[in-house]
Amino acid sequence: MIPESFIQDVLARTDIVSLIERYVPLKKGGANYMACCPFHNEKSPSFTVSPSKQFYHCFGCGAHGTAIGFLMEYSGLSFRDAMRDLAQQLGMQLPQEDASPEQHVQSQSLLEVMKRSSLYFREQLRYAPTAIEYLKKRGLTGEIAKQFGIGYAPADWQNLKSVFGTHYDDPQLLEAGMVIQNDAGRRYDRFRDRVMFPILDQRGNVIAFGGRVIGTGEPKYLNSPETPLFEKGHELYGLFQARQAIRESGTVVVVEGYMDVVALAQFGFGQAVATLGTATTATHIQKLFRHAERIVFCFDGDNAGRKAAHRALENSLELLADDKEIRFLFLPPEHDPDSFVRDNGLEAFHRAVHEAMPLSEYLLRELKADLNLNTAEDRARLIHEAKALVPKIAAPVLRLQTIRMLAEESGLSQDEVMNALELKEGSPGRRPATPARAPRSAKLSIHRQLLNALVTYPDLCGKLPGDIQDLVGQTEEWPVVQRLIDLHDDGSHNEAALLAHLLERYRDTPQQDIVGELIALSELNPIAEDNAAEELEGILRKLRLQNLDAHILQLQQLAAAGRLDAAQSKHYAELLSQKQKLKSGQQHAG
Ligand code: UTP
Ligand code: MN
Repeated sequence: MIPESFIQDVLARTDIVSLIERYVPLKKGGANYMACCPFHNEKSPSFTVSPSKQFYHCFGCGAHGTAIGFLMEYSGLSFRDAMRDLAQQLGMQLPQEDASPEQHVQSQSLLEVMKRSSLYFREQLRYAPTAIEYLKKRGLTGEIAKQFGIGYAPADWQNLKSVFGTHYDDPQLLEAGMVIQNDAGRRYDRFRDRVMFPILDQRGNVIAFGGRVIGTGEPKYLNSPETPLFEKGHELYGLFQARQAIRESGTVVVVEGYMDVVALAQFGFGQAVATLGTATTATHIQKLFRHAERIVFCFDGDNAGRKAAHRALENSLELLADDKEIRFLFLPPEHDPDSFVRDNGLEAFHRAVHEAMPLSEYLLRELKADLNLNTAEDRARLIHEAKALVPKIAAPVLRLQTIRMLAEESGLSQDEVMNALELKEGSPGRRPATPARAPRSAKLSIHRQLLNALVTYPDLCGKLPGDIQDLVGQTEEWPVVQRLIDLHDDGSHNEAALLAHLLERYRDTPQQDIVGELIALSELNPIAEDNAAEELEGILRKLRLQNLDAHILQLQQLAAAGRLDAAQSKHYAELLSQKQKLKSGQQHAG
């Protein structure tokens, strides 16, 4: 856990405009900056960034957030990684991090090692006619090689000495996986005489390499080992280059090989990424769903490819949502995506992606494989097999539909299938958090109106009555009201950026949607300053009236049941007269 004070400190020192400007071209428009929204498809700009309020908000799709939220959504970073990024830019270090300061410095220089190595390999490609020949033979242009930073590691044993000089013996080279040390302590380059594919993280840093042998040889691909920078199950080859195309199309295609990604890009299909010789993990899928709403797995038509598809299926179920989609594309057995697009062209590949098999269909096909549903035994077997997978489907509607299909196939009723799967109606699957979107409803509860007024004009906190806590009661709004009062009493916060502050304070809490709603309101329908005090008066009066009415109703119910004692009767009369006064006050004010 990162302490809240640290989060707020980083937020206060980061300028959201200069941050977002690095990724999205912004145009000044009045007090705000505008752009076409990077989170949905649009032709005219409805994405605004407010330098004073320090948040972004899209009128089109409702996306909103702070600098931290932007980095997370745009780059697909986790909260912690986004915080680390921002803190680093401010020269600050995340507190309570496992890494000591020395390790921190070291991981920076690991990046440096990778960067310098990568530049060197790219440079060397120019002087390597065999490597150039090989890439040409595989149909790659110089342009696409450049786009993916493809290089060449020469054949000698210690080429990297020419890059690092005496530092060739530094521990960082070993830790980055660029050299191998034998028992005698002698070092040599890990990658020799190979075409080099740099693997980038989501910020574009080189964190690992895949090196392909030229022609034939073993291993065909040599990859960096896992290092502090590189965890195979987390990274996807080509994601950095593909982000824009993925976002524009809403679709990402997951393939098996480096060459598949590069060849598809060469043919104009930019939204492919590859797992790095590992099974597709839940982390991969989570990462991809941050960028795309549809994932299409496209594995080779061979046996290994089918196995890979099955693993991907298993790891997807818990991450499904009804507004997300996963499909499976099975190429003819003789093809991988690289050869397919070369033989059949871009159009054919687009079509294949479009017609890929929906997950539910593939799931059923896998369950039914090798079964003869004409026998009762195999129909029972079908349900037995389904038990391991279907309850994991986190998308409630899709799960229900799958159950329907199972009922049909097995000749059981839907209820019987549910029972057999030990599922209860509507039992929730695990659903990953989706970013909060501001609700469009115009009608605001009185509690929300109160919050809206206080957030817009925090000085109004000074005008709240002493019994405000009773007035607001145990609502989900109360913690936010209380916080606003505390901040006002402290007097130390930046009032303009209050909403940004609240957004981070209530991230992943029940209050997060409230803050989203407040942001939409403040942008679309702000309270005029002249009316603010009066508006607050009106809200407080309504709150009081609501509370009075609730009390009165209680007592009336007692009276109706004949259980009102003398003291309560007196109280009842008092309440009625209070209500009378309030109402006439309202008439005066109105
Ligand atoms: P493939 O053998 O299908 O690779 O392995 P490919 O991309 O089609 O290779 P080309 O077209 O012959 O150049 C798929 C992926 O599995 C990993 C690599 O990530 C590769 O891209 N792999 C494969 C290895 O890591 N090591 C190997 O020896 C082979
Ligand atoms: Mn291939």
